[in-house]
Amino acid sequence: PVKIVTIGGGSSYTPELMEGFIKRYDELPIKEIWLVDIEDGKEKLEIVGTMAQRMWDASPYDVKVHLTLDRREALKDADFVTTQFRVGLLNARIKDERIPLSYGMLGQETNGAGGMFKALRTIPVILDIVKDMKELCPDAWLVNFTNPSGMVTEAVMRYGKWDKVIGLCNVPVGAMMKEPKMINKSLDDLTYKFAGLNHFHWHKIFDNATGHDITQKVIDAIYDPNVDDGTPKNIFNVKFFKEQLDQMQMIPCGYHRYYYRQEEMLAHALEEYNDPQVGTRGQQVKQTEAELFELYKDPHLNYKPEQLAKRGGTHYSDAACETIASIYANKNTHIVVSTKNNGAIPDLPTDCTVEVSAYIGSIGAKAIAFGELHPAERGWLQCMKNMELCVEEAAVTGNYDLLLQAFILNPQVVSGTTGKRIMDELLIAHKKYLPQF
Ligand code: NAD
Ligand code: G6P
Ligand code: MN
Repeated sequence: PVKIVTIGGGSSYTPELMEGFIKRYDELPIKEIWLVDIEDGKEKLEIVGTMAQRMWDASPYDVKVHLTLDRREALKDADFVTTQFRVGLLNARIKDERIPLSYGMLGQETNGAGGMFKALRTIPVILDIVKDMKELCPDAWLVNFTNPSGMVTEAVMRYGKWDKVIGLCNVPVGAMMKEPKMINKSLDDLTYKFAGLNHFHWHKIFDNATGHDITQKVIDAIYDPNVDDGTPKNIFNVKFFKEQLDQMQMIPCGYHRYYYRQEEMLAHALEEYNDPQVGTRGQQVKQTEAELFELYKDPHLNYKPEQLAKRGGTHYSDAACETIASIYANKNTHIVVSTKNNGAIPDLPTDCTVEVSAYIGSIGAKAIAFGELHPAERGWLQCMKNMELCVEEAAVTGNYDLLLQAFILNPQVVSGTTGKRIMDELLIAHKKYLPQF
């Protein structure tokens, strides 16, 4: 019988996770689920946790959902630990967004100054979790969803010295759900190959019948105005330059817009920031979250409501629950994960974390070789990976000078006095959650 522990259990995504486990119960016989949160999330945990139990009670399976603020009690003898927490909750995210935007620079959950600060707040917590796991469940797998997912996963391996970790994102799931339809195929007809970093990967698509690379067909379909290309709800869908995609012969992930169409993305973010009726994405999500928790309070609701699809992370359980089921049953399923490079992308060091297509089985992720990238992509990739490495090291050491280096490296931060001022202001704004500085 399997014991699952979910840290950040008060998240509005928890019903999504329950649905994924219920769907897969036959191959993943869960006995108990422990939802862990902290004092600040107690009310959310209570509401969504009760709703989670209702979902199981409405299923044919006998599963108990435990709610606790005691992480160590929960972790004892866990088989799988999933993490979906947000240090400082949405108020911290809103500061990550608004402070840089107040200076005319991008403020975003996982990109630019905001993304770097989310890593600084999160990495000390995930390393504490790993410390507890070493003591209380040394054989467990850690399945991380907490953003910035790639950096958090890398910190677990590099600084936590814990290799049984897999990082996840729902963006590749969304692409594989939407794109086959765009070219009148089903996912089974196609083979996908992804490579890059979390929120910074590209992919290619092959036709199983012919063996041909058919990426160009999908590129062409993206420019059909009537088609839903699977871009996550949280990303403003300005189109990539078609000339650029025609040249690269790959599909960039939705987040590449912040780099390839930086001007338009920044203008859009500033427009929302300056409109008090709209506000930043974090402010918008606060509203959606409040609506969701009102629904979750309904004692008759025992399934995941439609409205959860307004969140950018929708369908995340397809990655999380499938990863766990694949490890448990040694299924060797193709899943896109953050894992150790091991040569899959020869343009990056073998020991760094990459987000790539992998086969997931009982020994974890076996990254599939992607091969070298063209200089046009290699340049970005190496810059972004090294920026991430600097952020992670700064998160562990609290080294201000190194953090400044990371800021200067980050393409979303214009180097100079203003960038440094944003960094200083964020250090003050998040002081409570940055014990290392
Ligand atoms: P949220 O604001 O609802 O936070 C989830 C819970 O974490 C809250 O109940 C909060 O109290 C709790 N929490 C905070 N600090 C904690 C700690 N130290 N220990 C335990 N619990 C703690 O967040 P959300 O919007 O549901 O998102 C959750 C996380 O998942 C975020 O980090 C978000 O960025 C990430 N996310 C990732 C993806 C992806 O593709 N990987 C997609 C969506 C969301
Ligand atoms: C995306 C990403 C996540 C991100 C989320 C934001 O799809 O994959 O990593 O956290 O959506 O969604 P939100 O609704 O919180 O803005
Ligand atoms: Mn993601």
